[in-house]
Amino acid sequence: MVRHSKVLMVICISAILLCSSCSPVLLEENSRPVTAVLGAFEREIIMLEDELTDKQEQRIEGMKFASGRLNGKRIVVAWTGIGKVNAAMTTTLLIEHFRPNEVIFTGVAGGINPQLSPGDIVIAEKTAQHDSGTLWPDSFEHRGARNPLDGWRNPVFFPADERLLKLAVQAAEQVELETIKTSIGERTPRIVKGVVVTGDVFVASPEKCTELRNELGADAVEMEGAAVAQICYQQGIPCLVIRSISDKADEKAREDLGMFHTMAAKNSARLVTEMVELLASELSVEKSQKPQ
Ligand code: ADE
Repeated sequence: MVRHSKVLMVICISAILLCSSCSPVLLEENSRPVTAVLGAFEREIIMLEDELTDKQEQRIEGMKFASGRLNGKRIVVAWTGIGKVNAAMTTTLLIEHFRPNEVIFTGVAGGINPQLSPGDIVIAEKTAQHDSGTLWPDSFEHRGARNPLDGWRNPVFFPADERLLKLAVQAAEQVELETIKTSIGERTPRIVKGVVVTGDVFVASPEKCTELRNELGADAVEMEGAAVAQICYQQGIPCLVIRSISDKADEKAREDLGMFHTMAAKNSARLVTEMVELLASELSVEKSQKPQ
């Protein structure tokens, strides 16, 4: 009995010593601000994941989260899967386990604004769920759901975080994007600020495009952004959605998505990488200004 308790004591003391020798490093690393980058498809985030240094992969409830450094900035990257429910689930797990300082969503979207073509980018000034509201006999009334945390009704539009929006615009001025091949030669993608709407449907209908443009002023449509924005809004976490156009949400949408998905996903990921670089330099300025 006495012998057993002595062994136990030795084990406990060793464990305490081991923890105390490594915890300052872990604590320091874990206290650094982390930026989360989400995407619905693997190909939308793989370019960022491949660039990570000190990469660590973790499965939480079966979902894969890859953390590491991008341009010196601590980030965590995750693939949400398609649709609002999958996006909300992944965002919730992400917030609970990584406590990110900000969440950026990157990926592709159907273009609703007729001036946008595959490869162009929309930085969402605001996002809305186009399928949330009341269906009256002769109309659809857009309404946000009630926030279960405080009982207040959410807005129809979730505004982007101002600081992230500014950083994205700054990143847009310096990023080099893949040029787009057209029948009349190559062109540089346009980057605009605009409205991104989200719903649990892949839109391949010119009539729906007209409705989304007229009723919500949509520039692009996708299936995850506003769900992520809602979770972030309810949890008070800055969020920004960036989408590159893969199709025009018309009869040819599926075909165009197949053709332009990789190029558009790459362009969106490049803009996010540039933003992460700006976030990293923002942090190093803050650090150098801190009194020692
Ligand atoms: N993501 C890319 N294209 C889309 C479309 N046409 N509708 C919904 N989500 C999309």
